Amino acid sequence: MASVTEHKVETKGLVGWVDKRFPLTATWKAHLSEYYAPKNFNYWYFFGSLALLVLVNQIVTGIFLTMNYKPDSTLAFASVEYIMREVPWGWLIRYMHSTGASMFFVVVYLHMFRGLLYGSYRKPRELVWIFGCAIFLCLMAEAFFGYLLPWGQMSYWGAQVIVNLFSAIPVVGPDLSLWIRGDYVVSDVTLNRFFAFHVIAIPLVLLGLVFAHIVALHEVGSNNPDGIEIKEKKDANGKPLDGIPFHPYYSVHDFMGVCIFLMVFAAIIFFSPEMGGYFLEANNFVPANPLQTPPEIAPVWYFTAFYAMLRATTDPFKIVLMIVVALLGLLALVRARGKWRAGLPVLAVLVVLAMYFTQSKFWGVVVMGSAVVSLFFLPWLDQAPVKSIRYRPFFHKVFLAIFVVVFFILGFLGTRPPSPVGTLVAQVCALIYFAFFLGMPFWTRLGTFKQPPERVRFKAH
Ligand code: HEM
Repeated sequence: MASVTEHKVETKGLVGWVDKRFPLTATWKAHLSEYYAPKNFNYWYFFGSLALLVLVNQIVTGIFLTMNYKPDSTLAFASVEYIMREVPWGWLIRYMHSTGASMFFVVVYLHMFRGLLYGSYRKPRELVWIFGCAIFLCLMAEAFFGYLLPWGQMSYWGAQVIVNLFSAIPVVGPDLSLWIRGDYVVSDVTLNRFFAFHVIAIPLVLLGLVFAHIVALHEVGSNNPDGIEIKEKKDANGKPLDGIPFHPYYSVHDFMGVCIFLMVFAAIIFFSPEMGGYFLEANNFVPANPLQTPPEIAPVWYFTAFYAMLRATTDPFKIVLMIVVALLGLLALVRARGKWRAGLPVLAVLVVLAMYFTQSKFWGVVVMGSAVVSLFFLPWLDQAPVKSIRYRPFFHKVFLAIFVVVFFILGFLGTRPPSPVGTLVAQVCALIYFAFFLGMPFWTRLGTFKQPPERVRFKAH
């Protein structure tokens, strides 16, 4: 990216006055009117700007909700009902916020999938991806803290279950979960701290990360469906031959995405805000009762794939995992060439021993955490000579499709009550999920790759 100072221009009047004191015009040019984006973006490129839109929606509606919400365990539930029934347009603001939470995950999952399709995480965009993964973690924390606030049965028991997971950590676990709750059970103290995290701490971090995500992207420039670097072919003025200014071309393009999104968003808010129990669970319209556990405790849909992996980690599955770790250690032993690799078999032995002596509940937490953490390593796991799926062998497409299907199956199973068959299927799916990542350094090198074109492929429509 050309730096903001390179876009310094002489301006007059009020703008000129500001420009002498603040890089207004230069920033506009560097990041919008003279930011060159590849001309072959497709609809998958809608989701970054849509994520920004939903972020703004969450912040604005959140501020208005906070004006009438009471973070007190004796008042919280009633204050949400008050917002829904008494506050002018309160129902709309609340539904915009609750639907926005689910739509945030829909948009971000699609945005991440685009990254997988076109290898957008590969060099030089590793940091863009890492900031993205950190955003994803923050979003999960934000949604979790927010879910306790209405103080319904699901809020209460969901928080109870998740915080209790920490108690499975050997030695420090029980003290740690007590420290997180601030009490022996989820209580008013917990509600107060979750409120503080939800309304200020996490949003601040999230905003900082989104800023860093976009700065990093503009430093290296956007990838595209062909996965080729447009900066490598420039005209006499140093502008990428296959680039077009973000504004007005992509501001108009993204505006179309925004219109479609708003239609879907409005349709959900006005016709099905609960979305059959997926966006707002029926049990959460019942006030929290610490003396009565609901018959089923299931998280909201966007957590269910990870939750299914957690539940699938039973004692027999722990043994399967121990065998997998031992085999990986053996493989590392056979292939150890460098010094750091020689340490891996020792690490594998230590992990197997640790698994043997600790409860499977703890390893469920590890499996669930690793499912998210694996994403951070993608830029180094993928060893294919091309970025985009378009130029990869057919079986790469099949592997990606299997990964997505497995994620959906896990997501579905996480919404169902546990059953022996469901657990078995979830275990197989969890193994496939991790095999996708662990096998990546191997399978991404295999097969016959197509030669990507010299210049991006683009057909005007
Ligand atoms: C609040 C959430 C997020 C916001 C507001 C956001 C915003 C954006 C924007 C505006 C872009 C440029 C437009 C585009 O390429 O679509 C972008 C690109 C990108 N984002 Fe995000 N993002 C978010 C979350 C994530 C997450 C969770 C990941 C991955 C884990 C991610 C990975 C990427 C990548 C790799 C690119 C570059 C894509 C390319 O050049 O092909 N983002 N993001």
